[in-house]
Amino acid sequence: MQINSTLMTLLHVMADGRYHSGETLGGILGISRAAVWKTLSSLKQVGVVVESVKGKGYCIPGGLSLLDQAVIQDAVPIERLQDVALIEVKTELDSTNSYLLQAYDTDAFTGAHICLAEMQTAGRGRRGRTWQSPFAKNIYMSLSWQFEQGIAAIEGLSLAVGVAIVSALQQSGVHGLSLKWPNDVLYQGKKLGGVLLEISGDVSGRCGVVVGLGLNVAMSSAEASQIDQPWIDLKTIAGESLPSRNALAASLIDHLVGLLKDFESRRFKAYREQWQQHAAYMGEPITLSMGARTQQGVLLGVEENGALRISTETGEQVFVGGEISMRPA
Ligand code: BTN
Repeated sequence: MQINSTLMTLLHVMADGRYHSGETLGGILGISRAAVWKTLSSLKQVGVVVESVKGKGYCIPGGLSLLDQAVIQDAVPIERLQDVALIEVKTELDSTNSYLLQAYDTDAFTGAHICLAEMQTAGRGRRGRTWQSPFAKNIYMSLSWQFEQGIAAIEGLSLAVGVAIVSALQQSGVHGLSLKWPNDVLYQGKKLGGVLLEISGDVSGRCGVVVGLGLNVAMSSAEASQIDQPWIDLKTIAGESLPSRNALAASLIDHLVGLLKDFESRRFKAYREQWQQHAAYMGEPITLSMGARTQQGVLLGVEENGALRISTETGEQVFVGGEISMRPA
């Protein structure tokens, strides 16, 4: 379903969770009461519940916390904004990563180009999976950054991104998170967020990296029915003390842009210790899957380039590569 500007105006008015009469809403939008009813009924398709009570009008129970570009930008520390070229908030995209990859060739910015969307129609996960992206519930955000020294200089970046996300969430009052190699964000073994890193340009010189982050904030079981692994959202972890999606996005931007700015000079070695401190299953038996091949071992940690170290029956082995997945044995 296309979320057009009429629908977005309506949602902004109703985001307060109060009752609004069909007449008032129709007046704001310049449409008839019948057209208001029809428009609101279509919201079911994107998972937004609207209640109607005779004599009172319509309300979205609990309200909605919509993303707002100005609110996000104002909440990013001013000194960090020096390294941010553009923050865009879109209602609907196929994928925020695809959007920034397409923009990379024409971007003439220095600094981060950041894009968030209220929903994605073709959200992409690692290893060819889809990323469930229902409307106005979670965070779908991508950041594009230009590096000068090719992909060798950004080895381990995807793990360091996980560290930056955990730091941002800790600062927002969310504790007890862990990282599953390379960068799944977990809470008590359940997936809270994931990262998809994509590269364009010259892999041996100037190249662009798009860091895409999907974070479950408040998702219903119905919306998550397609997710084929244990999952959790921030609302379940933090309850009422959870900051708004705008505040969370600002904190994530602060930490991720800080990381991207310094990474070529600091490299993964500067983040390795923190990654290991947050690592899930450290010292525990795990199974690695590489296509049809599997390898059992005990997780020892990571190398300075982010490669995974495990102790196996034949001694210590090191694994690197985007197609590997890890799970507890
Ligand atoms: C994973 O499989 O764990 C990675 C998920 C990454 C999802 C995010 S949502 C924002 C960005 N746009 C996408 O299409 N994917 C990433």
